[in-house]
Amino acid sequence: MILCANPAAQFTSHQAEIEAAVLKVMRSNRYILGAEVEALESEFATYIGTRFAVGVANGTDALELALRTLGVGPGDEVITVSHTAVATVAAIEAAGATAVLTDVDPVFFTLDPLQLSQLLTKRTKAVIAVHLYGQAADLDAIGAFCAAHGLFLIEDGSQAHGATWNGKRVGAIGHIGCFSCYPTKNLGAIGDAGLVTTNDAELMKKVRMLREYGWQSRYISDVAGRNSRLDELQAAILRVKLRHLDESNAKRRAIAIRYNSEITTEAVTSPRFRAVSDSVFHLYVLQTTDRLALMNHLEQQDVQTGIHYPMPIHLQPAYKTRIRTATDMSVTERVAGEVLSLPMYPELSAVDVTRVIEAVNSFKGAAI
Ligand SMILES: Cc1ncc(COP(=O)(O)O)c(C=O)c1O
Repeated sequence: MILCANPAAQFTSHQAEIEAAVLKVMRSNRYILGAEVEALESEFATYIGTRFAVGVANGTDALELALRTLGVGPGDEVITVSHTAVATVAAIEAAGATAVLTDVDPVFFTLDPLQLSQLLTKRTKAVIAVHLYGQAADLDAIGAFCAAHGLFLIEDGSQAHGATWNGKRVGAIGHIGCFSCYPTKNLGAIGDAGLVTTNDAELMKKVRMLREYGWQSRYISDVAGRNSRLDELQAAILRVKLRHLDESNAKRRAIAIRYNSEITTEAVTSPRFRAVSDSVFHLYVLQTTDRLALMNHLEQQDVQTGIHYPMPIHLQPAYKTRIRTATDMSVTERVAGEVLSLPMYPELSAVDVTRVIEAVNSFKGAAI
């Protein structure tokens, strides 16, 4: 079976380096928030192009702590998209704020900036721009809206480590950038991990405090925080992976270019990529009106696929009765039924890419 994502292949690619890094931590007698976390924070900040980065336990926490750091909480509204990982909305609610959801644009499936003004209220405090599938949301339009209305711009770069917008890396453009390092992500740990980026020293200090009980000095909580510490093993592994991130992203790009040019069947629509932004191709997502048939067809040829995401958040049982959305959510509601992710990871071989392409091209379904 050709897997859709394959984090174990990443381990194999860098096995000697990862094993040495892990052994060093195990022998160090410091397992949480130590030298490896500090080094990762400084190297990731340099990579993204921010002054600071702070390691946290996962991407959901990165978003929640970012909101809390900005003082966003109960009574405040945060605008984001419905077509995203549920974590984006879960984090808003974990911070005590209210999520308000826009549709996505029909070409790139990222936040539709034209819908922001209809959702703005006196309670709106922040917008979370999700850089979906490896590609940046329209940060010029979203950033201009935030600036015009005094809102914080938080970037959810969980699917876009290394992606750029007008030559700057995502996570360096808004007030705060948030990243998940879940194992399948472009920068993936061997477990859970997350990172927060910012240029603002005060914000950096506050995130650091919030991730460990609100401590500035040990055992004294200056603010009410929680435990969202990053451990040394994950940090050490991420430092190895970070050294190879550009090379891994280049391999993903090469696969996406092949898919885009060699998948020729009329039964699917290929993804489009922005000119002002370099995608890092976290996922390669086709559209088809005949998704189930295509999934079954590919499965029979040993090609695993994924769906990101099958149900818009505003229609999910946990949220549907209480989430406010834009009046028109038609793109989100349509694409949830049509998107299909093909195998995409740096180690996917040229032979397997050819097999995937041939399998898709041999599908005779309905065109969009
Ligand atoms: C866009 C987006 N935001 C947030 C998250 C949450 O990250 P985590 O699973 O590390 O909490 C993820 C990953 O699942 C994601 O894809």
